[in-house]
Amino acid sequence: MTRLSKKDVLRADQFTSGDMDLILERAATYEAALAAGKELDELRGKILATLFFEPSTRTRLSFETAMLRLGGRVLSVSEAKSTSASKGESLHDTIKTVEGYADAIVLRHPEVGAAEVAARATAKPVLNAGDGAGEHPTQSLLDLYTIRKEQGRVDGLTISLVGDLKHGRTVHSLATVLCQFSVSLLLVSPPALRMPREVVERAQAKGASVRETDDLGSALAQSDVVYMTRIQRERFADPAEYDRLKDAYVLTRATLRKAKPSVTVMHPLPRVNEISTDVDDLPGAAYFRQSANGVPVRMALLALLIS
Ligand code: NCD
Repeated sequence: MTRLSKKDVLRADQFTSGDMDLILERAATYEAALAAGKELDELRGKILATLFFEPSTRTRLSFETAMLRLGGRVLSVSEAKSTSASKGESLHDTIKTVEGYADAIVLRHPEVGAAEVAARATAKPVLNAGDGAGEHPTQSLLDLYTIRKEQGRVDGLTISLVGDLKHGRTVHSLATVLCQFSVSLLLVSPPALRMPREVVERAQAKGASVRETDDLGSALAQSDVVYMTRIQRERFADPAEYDRLKDAYVLTRATLRKAKPSVTVMHPLPRVNEISTDVDDLPGAAYFRQSANGVPVRMALLALLIS
């Protein structure tokens, strides 16, 4: 099999285990090629459009780097107000227009389900780079790649997802991908920011062990991987509620003494206060390696979807 099972990447539950194997293996070969300084040209002559209607550093730049590393070219819109969306154009019409210019479209949008709307508007591949508080499926693949690389395996691990599990799209997608493996998930959040029921139920239906708690200390002691997340200020209707919850969990070098020496600390970034900078030089602090892994993983996705 050299193709993914679908034309688009919209949600984490679309990935078959065959898709995940294909993407992760291909990503590993690209990582090795990049490390060896090889120039690749599989997507020469192809154009990727990146349309970002919400802020981004890593996701947009790593998609664009991935396309350039494969010899392709990039059209980029990083501010919604610079497009005709600000004149009232529908997402459908924007996508119908961009499909005339590009071979694939990466979309970040504030509304849940926007990527599905976009995918229905075009026969070209659409990659969901975050739809509001919904999903972030390509992030979950680079997270999976990182876990496997840092820990040497995924099966058998205890993985804590910590912070704003209600609004955090990265953890919605990651929990969905991880439950295809034999893992124990600890969902650590304040009661007001618990993981949506449908994500928990989907994971349990797949046979994953899922426990919810608000106690980071006890989760730390059991975890092989601790995945911290930012409290998603932009999703709160009430700023006072954000202020009450914003520093719910802060990982420091001192609190990490409770963890296993082999623990891997991850974060999709950007961080605010969730991980103190005194953690950064610990060997298990993997978050900047994680963001770098976005390049080979997105190269794999683009090569499999476009060529
Ligand atoms: C996240 C996102 O945009 O969902 N970052 C990312 O894509 N790497 C996480 C966040 O904004 O907190």
